[in-house]
Amino acid sequence: MMKNITHPTGLFDNSARDYKHITAVPLAAAMGAEIQGVDLSNLTDEAFAEIEAALYRHKLIFFRDQTLSFTDHENVTLRFGEFGTDAYTKGVVGHENIQPVIKEATVETKMVFGSGWHTDSAFLDRPPAIAINYGKDMPPYGGDTLFANSVLAYNSLSPAMKKMIDPLKVWMSAKHVVASMQAERKSKKASELGSLELDVDTQKMIEGTYHPLVRTHPVSGEKSLYVDKTYACGIEGMTEEESRPLLDFLSGFATQESFVCRLKWYNNTVIMWDNRICLHQAFNDYDGHRREMYRAVVMGEKPQ
Ligand code: SIN
Repeated sequence: MMKNITHPTGLFDNSARDYKHITAVPLAAAMGAEIQGVDLSNLTDEAFAEIEAALYRHKLIFFRDQTLSFTDHENVTLRFGEFGTDAYTKGVVGHENIQPVIKEATVETKMVFGSGWHTDSAFLDRPPAIAINYGKDMPPYGGDTLFANSVLAYNSLSPAMKKMIDPLKVWMSAKHVVASMQAERKSKKASELGSLELDVDTQKMIEGTYHPLVRTHPVSGEKSLYVDKTYACGIEGMTEEESRPLLDFLSGFATQESFVCRLKWYNNTVIMWDNRICLHQAFNDYDGHRREMYRAVVMGEKPQ
């Protein structure tokens, strides 16, 4: 039995549970765990049930030394529910729900897919519930992914701040992302864009939607701060002047170092995160090296 790892605030417990079919090894006090003892391409129902429980507990889980075909990747994803909407790419040939996130060694760009703290596709009516990324060919250094625990962030706010933000709705829009992708596009040849090519209805992404600023997890009942530095663009009923400082404070608060864990990738690492209650950020720090990843997402509910 592992010793409890309680976050220094006392507001989150990331210790591992004892499981029968998997072993969970916590990554940080804030969140995250490595799951050992399973082959994701050959999963029993019992092992899957424990993986799902571990995902909801640790928010991010990862598996080393996995080899997944596109079909295996689809099958693992479908264990959690129907495929979600991926707003950015059209998928690989023959597997439209497997999204390539690839940066070639020759591509030099100021932005990479997922740089900037965000929750995936928050501008959709039903953003993905869970994302499953398979890192196939990863750079020898750099390209780590950071995750931040939005439940811990909410729990760490003062009662007065919670009371003020509880009824608010946040406007989630891809307007900043679309603008930077279009600027990058103007400065490049199509062949240099890699996964940054925009082949989607950007107008709808910019219109976005309003979601609760404090959302409740449909399974665990945990409340979390639904705000990020990428898509949170306003608050219903507030002027830009009023909402901007509040959003800046909340997104900065939610991504403070002590709420974060950092994932180092190796080839054949698979990660799963609960997109409803954590934020993530990728880094553009491996120019000259290839990074080949595939992502699939599970359909989420309308945030409540
Ligand atoms: C993503 O947001 O799915 C990309 C994460 C990464 O590239 O590490």
